[in-house]
Amino acid sequence: MIEINSLRPLTGEGKRLFIETYGCQMNAGDSEIVVSIMQDNGYRYTEDVNEADIILINTCSIRDNAEQRIWGRLSAMRQLKKRKPSLIVGVIGCMAERLKEQLIEKGTGVDIVAGPDSYRSLPELARTAEDGSKGINVELSKEETYAEIAPVRLDRNGVSAFIAIMRGCNNYCAYCVVPYTRGIERSRDPQTIVAEARTLFENGYREVTLLGQNVNSYSYGEVGFPELMAMVAQISPLLRVRFATSHPKDISDRLLEVMASYDNICKAIHLPAQSGSNEMLKKMNRKYTREWYLERIAAIRRYMPDCAITTDLIAGFCGETLEDHQATLSLMREVGYASAFMFKYSERPGTFSARHFADDIADEEKTRRLNEIIALQNQLSVESNEAEVGLIRQVLVEGTSKRSEEQLCGRTSQNKMVVFDRGNHSAGDYVTVKITGCSSATLFGEEIFE
Ligand code: 5AD
Ligand code: SF4
Repeated sequence: MIEINSLRPLTGEGKRLFIETYGCQMNAGDSEIVVSIMQDNGYRYTEDVNEADIILINTCSIRDNAEQRIWGRLSAMRQLKKRKPSLIVGVIGCMAERLKEQLIEKGTGVDIVAGPDSYRSLPELARTAEDGSKGINVELSKEETYAEIAPVRLDRNGVSAFIAIMRGCNNYCAYCVVPYTRGIERSRDPQTIVAEARTLFENGYREVTLLGQNVNSYSYGEVGFPELMAMVAQISPLLRVRFATSHPKDISDRLLEVMASYDNICKAIHLPAQSGSNEMLKKMNRKYTREWYLERIAAIRRYMPDCAITTDLIAGFCGETLEDHQATLSLMREVGYASAFMFKYSERPGTFSARHFADDIADEEKTRRLNEIIALQNQLSVESNEAEVGLIRQVLVEGTSKRSEEQLCGRTSQNKMVVFDRGNHSAGDYVTVKITGCSSATLFGEEIFE
């Protein structure tokens, strides 16, 4: 059996590696694996871009603006190279997978291109680049999960960490580039996941978030996602367990049952709806209807009346009528989301919708619809926070509040941020707090002594 039995410290003597991460939490986790691999090959991690010998940019392709940002960073890198010609610049992650050779053509200044499944070859690619050639590997894999690689934790709040439990995605939502950039779905050996979570706990961490594009389809031998959650929750009642992201089509009663039966499994579910219109859901290839989605919401509420529900929404998908848009707004009201990530549809080359549907909603109209969605969500977020006032919640302290040294901040099981007076607490403590007030983004509380 493979054991991940120690937290990897930052070490290394050799050339200095700087890594910049964009996009989702999966990418943040991948960067920690990359640092681990590079460290094993003698590179030393640095937080100072100016002292770097090699800079890796871990990229996102989910929307066009994400890629535009990376092009901007690459132009800044070319400036750095003028001052330091030996500097190696690599593009890794989703954009590397999507654009492949195009990233090293036409004076981009890029020396290395590595897709999400080829990080083990990064040291070799770096050597190729140091010898003056271009290093590229964008092979996708059916098996790679980096299961036994202990990530070097870069976040370092020391309380809360992410654990990737699977990679890739088989859902092929019509708008989404992820199945093309991150390959097919595969699950990681549960023993390595539990070992990683236990190591984090033994090193003072108090919360782990299990990550995958669609965690509900986690499957390894006999172990499905509900069983995996239970295994991780059993490490200690003091270790909180979260997960992201669920697909509404297969969030099961069995999972809700397991969530409800462990106090340390957090009462928060991120359930991306994308749209409230059946017409749009069908075109998006989401494989559920509005009615199915609302039934799942009702099931969540049955099992866990105090579970917070959050979502992702897309405005202005191909052919979206005003009626479809209204259906999204009414779904939002009906569910009463605690918060949401809201986006304008962005056509991604190669996806089903790019190949088959016209991106026919004008950009100003997308913006207008998105703004309506955002305004409604602000209102719903305030209502959701106001409903917390007067309640007593367990808060896991993450650190000092941004506003004042005298105050701490931490999250409730529902994943809401609470700010309260420090008392004699520090990061990693559980504190019982009475919620006394709120803004749209934060709760304010007072410690209570039982
Ligand atoms: N355009 C806009 N939003 C998108 N998302 C995924 N692909 C696109 C796209 N092409 C959103 C979805 C998904 C989240 C991670 O990003 O809402 O849930
Ligand atoms: Fe993550 Fe998706 Fe962006 Fe890739 S495209 S980095 S999977 S958000």
